Amino acid sequence: MLFPVPLNAAILQIQSPERMKAPALNTLRIETITTAFREQLGGEPAVWCRAPGRVDLMGSHTDYNLGYVLTLAIDRDTWIAARPREDRVVRLYSLNLAKAGGFELEHISRAPGAAWSNYVRGVASVLQAEGFALKGFDAVVHSTVPMSSGLSSSAALECATATVFESVSGFTLDPVEKARLCQRAENQFVGVNCGILDQYTSCCGQAGCALLLDCRDLSSQTVPLADGIRVVICDTKFKRKLAGSEYGQRRAQCGKGARLLGIKALREVSLDQFNAREKQLPAEVARRCRFIVEENDRVLRMAKALTAGDEAAIRALTAASFKGACTLYEIGAPVMVTLMEAMLQAPGVIGARQAGAGFGGCMVAFVRDDTVEAFSRSVRQAYHAQMGITPEVYAVEAAAGPELLSFVCGQASTLAGLEGPDR
Ligand code: GLA
Repeated sequence: MLFPVPLNAAILQIQSPERMKAPALNTLRIETITTAFREQLGGEPAVWCRAPGRVDLMGSHTDYNLGYVLTLAIDRDTWIAARPREDRVVRLYSLNLAKAGGFELEHISRAPGAAWSNYVRGVASVLQAEGFALKGFDAVVHSTVPMSSGLSSSAALECATATVFESVSGFTLDPVEKARLCQRAENQFVGVNCGILDQYTSCCGQAGCALLLDCRDLSSQTVPLADGIRVVICDTKFKRKLAGSEYGQRRAQCGKGARLLGIKALREVSLDQFNAREKQLPAEVARRCRFIVEENDRVLRMAKALTAGDEAAIRALTAASFKGACTLYEIGAPVMVTLMEAMLQAPGVIGARQAGAGFGGCMVAFVRDDTVEAFSRSVRQAYHAQMGITPEVYAVEAAAGPELLSFVCGQASTLAGLEGPDR
């Protein structure tokens, strides 16, 4: 039997004891995807790619206000294993959902019964509208980014899809342009009016560091995290949904605030300027705008604090972010408060806050490296005691943006050599 073996150093690099498991997990993942491909589509995949999910470390809802976000592409990702076709048909199989889907590139419409395939359809539709000549493919999709949890599973799928189209159709997109097109697919085709954060992070992520993203000019700087600080995701297991939620209302309120202040976007006012002019705004709009202006300021401080390992600053900034999210922006939820208490009482915690859009989903904690296990155990126990649900708690690494994966065929025994530094 043939085993495709990944040579991708970014994926296989062993960065910590937990990551030692990565080669074995990747092998299992490759085998599972390959088997599904054979069973569902017949034959072998020829093009493999991955694109990461993300977690925001600071900067909730600042993206559509053209502000800053401190964001991290994570080592939870979406893989697509594809085989180019001669015609203009796309056939898909989602391993997570055990569902098949497909469409013709000539007639792309939304699939009401297969919402997940709309991300693929949307990217295809936008790329074609931009004039790219697309070729069809058969593909199995598999993701380790949990769905509807605020870690951007949709952006990872969009970004991986665009990467497959690049490969099978023979063109290359600039990463920022790719992010814009994926965002357009989500805004215009899927119908979720999100900002650029998720797609930018998935398309432009850098292994080993966070990104300080400026959503006005779409530039970013890499931000290294101080040694000894780990980013730990804690999932409330309370699913949130962006479409049809209060996300659009928050966006509209920020837009109204900016109009009343006579600016294009809230990013343009400093905290001092806002303090002086806040009274011009209706009370609720003022609360929303205050959160954004303060949060934007916190992003820049957090970038410095994380690089310097300034624990006191990290604790204060994350606490202020969560407080503002609950009281000013009102994107909190009782489950988030319960999880926040569990995180803040756990050993080794430096600070914790909301992640993604809020309204449930995942939260993020900064934890001392040597206490990640004890922290995770404690959070699981405390949250379970309150809610009767065991939350997912796991450390993440900063991962690279989308990549094509290379494989060789060989026997399973070849895999042992993969842990060597030069593979
Ligand atoms: C969701 C959206 C992003 C961003 C965040 C909140 O993840 O998709 O564009 O607005 O919420 O920061």
